[in-house]
Formats: sequence, structure tokens, C-alpha cells
Amino acid sequence: MNCFQIIKCVLDEAYSQIPGDDVNKDNDIKEAIKYLREEYPSLLTGNKITYSDPITRFAYIYTYVTSHANLVCTLIEQDDNLGNLFNNSKVNVACIGGGPGSDFLGILKYLMTNKKSPTVKFQLCDKEKTWAESWYDVDDKIDPIFRISTSYLPLDVTKPDDWQAYNKYFQSDLFTMIYFMSEVYTFKDIANEYFANLFSQAKPGSLFLFVDNNNPSFYGWFDNLAKDNSIKIINNKTERMSLPNDEDKNDLEIYFEKFKAIGNPKINANVAYRVGRKE
Ligand SMILES: C[S@@+](CC[C@H](N)C(=O)[O-])C[C@H]1O[C@@H](n2cnc3c(N)ncnc32)[C@H](O)[C@@H]1O
Repeated sequence: MNCFQIIKCVLDEAYSQIPGDDVNKDNDIKEAIKYLREEYPSLLTGNKITYSDPITRFAYIYTYVTSHANLVCTLIEQDDNLGNLFNNSKVNVACIGGGPGSDFLGILKYLMTNKKSPTVKFQLCDKEKTWAESWYDVDDKIDPIFRISTSYLPLDVTKPDDWQAYNKYFQSDLFTMIYFMSEVYTFKDIANEYFANLFSQAKPGSLFLFVDNNNPSFYGWFDNLAKDNSIKIINNKTERMSLPNDEDKNDLEIYFEKFKAIGNPKINANVAYRVGRKE
């Protein structure tokens, strides 16, 4: 199963949960696709995006999740430090800002493609609790040979009272931050405390995977935090990446037909990525 096929099942459920008739739903989804596309380029100067509306979540999953999941999968395949982690029998992964499921789905695709089946526990740490609706039963949709579980940590990185309530996930083997630091960049002054705490509390040997827009403001923030908290950057690059050939937008079936005129799912990405290891 490729990502678009899993996403199609997730979109079926998400679509059925949006109230109203199809014509109105489709118009609202088209507006939301346009809205997200217009908002993301200005994350350096402000961010008013919220994902509490099921229409916005649908638009996000339709447009971005397959692309971001494939970035994660490709980067794990290209980096032995990450790939070898999944030769262990148990792996704990914390996906910071991972509510929409891209980070998790990318790792799942890596496991499927490379025929690895460790027990993997994913903690999706995100301020938007409603993302959980999309992924709580994903294990029922895949071959049971893959022993994965997902749980949500509803934390807001700009609210210390929120994030200070959790610390078990510091024991994770891998922390992913996929298009997350750009999302909270305009709250950098306050969110910095969260990241500094996370980076300093992570256990020695744990790995960090950072992927974001290729902009020095975003990756510079990650690099400074890594330097200050004994995280050695073991792989780093900026690169234009595209969806692999095994992903076919037509697998989105009816949704691709409905929305292709307003916006295709993301295919290309100009990314900066880092793999770090806690010393
Ligand atoms: C652009 S999405 C990236 C999601 C996913 N990692 C991906 O690559 O598709 C950003 C995510 O950050 C979450 N988020 C935004 N602000 C947050 C905050 N202050 N604390 C925690 N999560 C936040 C959003 O709910 C959303 O799921």
C-alpha cells in the first residue's frame, strides 16, 4: 500500500464526518486548500492557521500528508543511523507537531517497503487534539504484521503549563519535527523554552529528524538548539525532493477529481533536513 492509498481511506472517514451536502462541503474544502496554500509562505512573519475545523484538516491531509510522509521515508532510507534504528525489536518515536500523521505514515511506509516489523510506539505531540480522529484506528487498516500503535499527547509548545505535564516521551528513541518549527517560528521567543527543555532532556543516543522549508531562519533555530544541548548533527543537507514514482495521485480517486482544479496534492519540496544524535 502506498501513502495515497492509506490517505484515501483516512479522507473517506474525514469527509463523511463533515456536516452538510457534498456541494457545500466541496466548496468549503476548495477554500481551505487555497487558504493553506496562501498562509504557509508567510510563516516567517505571522501564523494564524488553526486546524480545529474538520474542513481545514481534510484540506491539509489531502494536500500535504503524502508529500511529507514520503520525505520522511526517503530520508530514513538514505541515512543508516535512522534506518538501523528500525532493526531493533522495539522503537519509541515522538512526533512533535505530528498530529496530521505525516511523520508516522512516512515511518510506516519505510517499514513496509523495507520489510521491517519492530514494535513501534508513536506519540503524536500536537496542540490540536482532533487530529486523533484520523489516525486512532490506522493499525486496523494495515497488515497486522506491522505492530504499531499511536497515541496523542495534547500539548501546546507555547504553553508551559501544558507541556510541563509530560516527560515520559523524553525517553523516545527518535524525535521527528517535520514542518513544525516553521509553524511556530513567530512564537519563537516563547516556544524556545519548550525546545530547549526537550533537547536537553532527550536520552543520550536518541536521534532527531528535522525537515522544514529551506530557509536559514528555520534550520538556524534548530541548529542553535542542537549546538546548545549536545546534539551532534550527523547528516545535513538542503535539497529539492519529489514524490517517488510509486505514489499516484489517482489513488485519491474521487477526491483528486473533485479538487484537482483548485490544487493538486504537494509533489515537490525544497527542504532543509538534519539528522542529529544526542551525545
Ligand atoms: C504544518 S503542520 C505539520 C504536521 C506534520 N508534521 C507534517 O509534516 O505534515 C504543523 C502542526 O503543528 C501543530 N501545531 C501548531 N502550533 C502548535 C503548538 N503551539 N504546539 C503544538 N502543536 C502545534 C498543528 O496542529 C499541526 O498539526
